[in-house]
Amino acid sequence: MNQIRVLGLVMIAVGMSAAVLAGTLKIELPQETASLLPGPGADLANGQCLTCHSADYITTQPRDKPLAFWKAEVEKMRKVYAAPVPDDQIQAIAEYLTRSYGSTNP
Ligand code: HEC
Repeated sequence: MNQIRVLGLVMIAVGMSAAVLAGTLKIELPQETASLLPGPGADLANGQCLTCHSADYITTQPRDKPLAFWKAEVEKMRKVYAAPVPDDQIQAIAEYLTRSYGSTNP
């Protein structure tokens, strides 16, 4: 009988501390600062390239890279990381990335 009462008290204590934790634990994620530049194809890149990682992965690449680099990058995302980029979007996304972040960046 005593044991059951102790068990009850323990359960109440556990429940109360859980409630306290739930009330005080507030997680604030940092504001997403980097996004992709606007332009033709930006909608495709925004749709396909920001689901796994932030835009920083793209925007911090060296700016002298040609179309072949960006095309290979999109292919790599598909082959190595299984990014579900449709075949008919590869070229358009690579061209957008080269225009915005590569060697043809004005
Ligand atoms: C399925 C998830 C996924 C998608 C979708 C995805 N990536 Fe990635 N990407 C990754 C992973 C995983 C890494 C490697 C992370 C690491 O090494 O820390 C990466 C890394 C990168 C890098 C850094 C250089 C490198 O090769 O590692 C670039 C640039 C990049 N991604 C571009 C893109 C572009 C452009 C797209 C859209 C076509 C894209 N990613 C979509 C998963 C993805």
